[in-house]
Amino acid sequence: MKITILTLFPEMFEGFLTTSIIKKARLKGLAEIEAIDIREFTDDKHNRVDEYPFGGGQGMIMKCQPVLDCLKSVRTPQSRVLLMGPTGQQFNQAKARELVKQDHLILLCGHYEGFDARIRAYVDEEISIGDYVLTGGELASMVITDAVTRLVPGVITEESHLDESFENGLLEYPQYTRPVDYEGHTVPEVLLSGHHENIRKFRLKESLRLTLRVRPDLLENRNFTREERKLLDE
Ligand code: ADE
Repeated sequence: MKITILTLFPEMFEGFLTTSIIKKARLKGLAEIEAIDIREFTDDKHNRVDEYPFGGGQGMIMKCQPVLDCLKSVRTPQSRVLLMGPTGQQFNQAKARELVKQDHLILLCGHYEGFDARIRAYVDEEISIGDYVLTGGELASMVITDAVTRLVPGVITEESHLDESFENGLLEYPQYTRPVDYEGHTVPEVLLSGHHENIRKFRLKESLRLTLRVRPDLLENRNFTREERKLLDE
């Protein structure tokens, strides 16, 4: 899969693209990820990419010309174009699963007070990563790139996805590693027992309890299995 990020600040992506799992995915050829500088497309002799808003008001607005010339230079019929912005649909794990099926994602990052509204006619959808306002879309595009890239087959072992938070509608159970006792905080006995069925039940119960405690909204429309009901009643 290919992800093209259009930004005024490509230098923000240097560490992101050359570290850890994202770096490995790129080196293995599983994900091609590029950050393209919108400013290189401006036809303004002073290299400007933004202007004052018509009608007055605070801040600067990104102009159509550099943004859309940049977009047109990378877009193909296979591309899906996502605009990063706080007024978009909220990103989540289900959206990441949907996006990983695409051949080519283009993530358009805004800065300053926003885009000329006519740019929206050239994008497929607007996406927000949460109910807060960032200084620009770059961090949002990194969040989306990260969440999507790790779902590309071969990037991380398939089994890692099975018990992951949100994959089965629940938050992931707590995990432990050595030592068994850290300053009196001990690992639950059952995890040391080697009894796979008991460990499975324990983890499911912990997932259910954790989700009920911190994200009860995730359980609102859940069809609980008989086993899940029993574990919750214990
Ligand atoms: N740009 C500014 N705020 C944003 C948000 N919450 N999500 C995506 N892009 C943004």
